[in-house]
Order: sequence, then structure tokens, then C-alpha cells
Amino acid sequence: MTKDKLISLFLSQILNVFLAFFYMVHSGDVQKMAKDNLPTWERALEILQKLNLPDHIIDHVKQVARQATFIARKVRKIPVNVQIVQIGALFHDIGRSRIHGFLHGVEGGKILREMGMPEELARIAERHILGGFTKEEATELDLPQREFLPETVEEKIVCLADKMVNGSQNVTVNKRFDRWFKKYGKTALLVSAQKRVKGIEREIHHLT
Ligand SMILES: [Fe+2]
Repeated sequence: MTKDKLISLFLSQILNVFLAFFYMVHSGDVQKMAKDNLPTWERALEILQKLNLPDHIIDHVKQVARQATFIARKVRKIPVNVQIVQIGALFHDIGRSRIHGFLHGVEGGKILREMGMPEELARIAERHILGGFTKEEATELDLPQREFLPETVEEKIVCLADKMVNGSQNVTVNKRFDRWFKKYGKTALLVSAQKRVKGIEREIHHLT
């Protein structure tokens, strides 16, 4: 075999290995996308615009998504699905396209399920308000009579990140609650929500 033939055989082998590797990685991605059925950042924003979510709320959810992604990437002690965190944060206030007040979380879950989005996203929307609600709190607030507390790490991160953004400005959890205290008074609901969110903040910090 001539030297040229040897070189071309060698190069074609390298190309085969490269193509096999590319196919493996690419098909893995495709399968993962199909499994998760997650929209991209751009597609998620298109959906929010189609639903006529006001611009200031879109600015808010974008900032919450940035904050939530930043927190999610710092967590090292347990696995976190950063894509679920990011898109879940973009969709957390989707219910505000139909309704405001405490019901917007439940409404958001409903919209996302109607659209065939992953259940994880619907639960993030349902459980993000304040620090989530116990069944008793939900009953008192005229929400469906069940628990709405964030359970998974992804749900906790979006709930926390939402309390670290006021409008589209980053703030501390305490600053966020101080503004609510000024507006609504130090109600029992707000005081217990602050304790719950501070608990989530400590828990996430211990996972970094
Ligand atoms: Fe919200």
C-alpha cells in the first residue's frame, strides 16, 4: 500500500469516528428534546407574546429566568434540570395573561397543560406564588383545596428567583417582602411566606 493510500485510509477512519460521534450526540439531543417537549427560550417568548402577556410582565419573567438559571448552575450537590428551570421561569406568570391575584398560578398550570407542555412546567407555575401555599392557606384563599408548596429543586429555584426580582430589578428576598409589607401590611400570610422563602434560600445555598 502506498503512503498516499495509507493516509487517505487513516483520514477516512477519522471521519467515520467523527460522524459516529456526531450522530450519537445529535440523536441524543433530538431524543432528549422529544422526551422533554420543551420549547426554546425564543419559542417560549413567542408564546407569551401571542397570549398578550403585557410587556412589563415579559420583562419580569425574563429577569426571573436569568436569575433562576444563575442559581440553578450554582447547585452542584444534586442534579438540576437547568432547561426546566429556565423555561419554567419564563412561563411562571403565564396565568397573568388571563387572571391576576393568587389564582394566576393555578391558571398558569391549566394553560400549560392545555398546550401539552411538560407537567414539570405546569407545577412550577402553580407553586411559585409567595413561598407556595399549604392546603389550609389554599382553602382560605379560595384556591383549589390542595397543597401548592414547591417540592422539586426546579420548583424551589423558580419560586426563590421570583422573590429575588422586583419588576425586572434584582433585589434580596427581604427587600422583596419589605415592599409587600409596605403595600399590604405584615399579614400572617406574608410573614409565613417570607419564612418559607428564606428556608428555600438556605436549602438551595446548602446545595451549592
Ligand atoms: Fe407570579
